[in-house]
Amino acid sequence: MKRSIDNVKYSVVGTGKTGGTVVSLLGENAVPFDEFNKPTVQKLKETDIAIVFVPGSAAEQVLDQVLDAGIPAVWGTTGYDWPDDLPDRVKEVDQRWVIGSNFSLGMNLVRKAINILGKGSDMLVNPKFHIHEVHHTKKQDAPSGTALSWQEWLRKEALISSDRQGDVVGIHNLHIKTAEESIYLKHEAHSRQVFAEGAVWTANYLLKNRFIEPGVYPFSDIFDRAFSELI
Ligand SMILES: NC(=O)c1ccc[n+]([C@@H]2O[C@H](COP(=O)([O-])OP(=O)(O)OC[C@H]3O[C@@H](n4cnc5c(N)ncnc54)[C@H](OP(=O)(O)O)[C@@H]3O)[C@@H](O)[C@H]2O)c1
Repeated sequence: MKRSIDNVKYSVVGTGKTGGTVVSLLGENAVPFDEFNKPTVQKLKETDIAIVFVPGSAAEQVLDQVLDAGIPAVWGTTGYDWPDDLPDRVKEVDQRWVIGSNFSLGMNLVRKAINILGKGSDMLVNPKFHIHEVHHTKKQDAPSGTALSWQEWLRKEALISSDRQGDVVGIHNLHIKTAEESIYLKHEAHSRQVFAEGAVWTANYLLKNRFIEPGVYPFSDIFDRAFSELI
C-alpha cells in the first residue's frame, strides 16, 4: 500500500534501522539524510515535512536546521533532553512538531483501553494488577519504558516483571485478577516497521490538518485527535 501523499516530499533525517524503513515506505517521495549527507536548511526547505530518526546524541545537531527550515516535523528520537524553550521556538516559526517515543498506533489504542480498565477496576473487589514484558536479549533496560507507561496509564500499583528471549521485538501483557475473574490484555509488536508506519501516518496527519495550532505535540495528542474524529 502506498504511504506517501502525491507530490509531497518528505525529508527523512537518519536512515538507520527505523529511518531506513521510513525511506522504504515513502519510496521516491523520500529525501534521505544521514551523517555523510547532513541536512541543510536549504535542502530541508525544498521538502514539505521532516521525519527524524537520529539518535539522541545527534538531535542537537539537527534541531536548529529543522527549525530554521520552517517545515513541520515528526521526531522519533529518544534519549534527548528537549530544550525547555522548544515549544516557543516552534511557535515563532509558525510550525507544528510532533515528538513520540513510540509511534505504534496499536500501542496508543492500548493506552486508551488501559485507561478504561484502570478506572473501571474500582468497581471490582480487591483486584491485583500484573504487567509482564518480554524483549530480545540485547535490550539493556528492564522493565521496558513501555511497561512503566502501562502502569502510568493504569494509575494503579502493579507488579511488573520482565523476561529476555531471543529476538522478540516486544510483548506486553496486563493481567487483572480478582478471586472470581481475570482480564488479560496483550500487545505484541511483530516488527520494527510499526514505528516507521506510525511516523509516516503522523506526518500525513499534519500535512492534511494544517489548521492545528503551531506548537510541539506529543504523539498521543495527535492520536487522540484522530481517534475523536472516529466517534
Ligand atoms: N519513536 C519511536 O517509535 C522509535 C522507534 C524506534 C527507534 N526510535 C529512536 O530513533 C532513534 C534512531 O533509532 P535507530 O534504531 O533507527 O538508529 P540507527 O539505526 O543507529 O540510525 C541512526 C541514523 O541517524 C543518522 N545520523 C546520526 N547522526 C546524524 C546527524 N548528525 N545528521 C544526520 N543523520 C545522522 C545515522 O547516519 P549514518 O547511517 O550515516 O551513521 C543513521 O542513519 C533512536 O533515538 C531510537 O531510540 C524511536
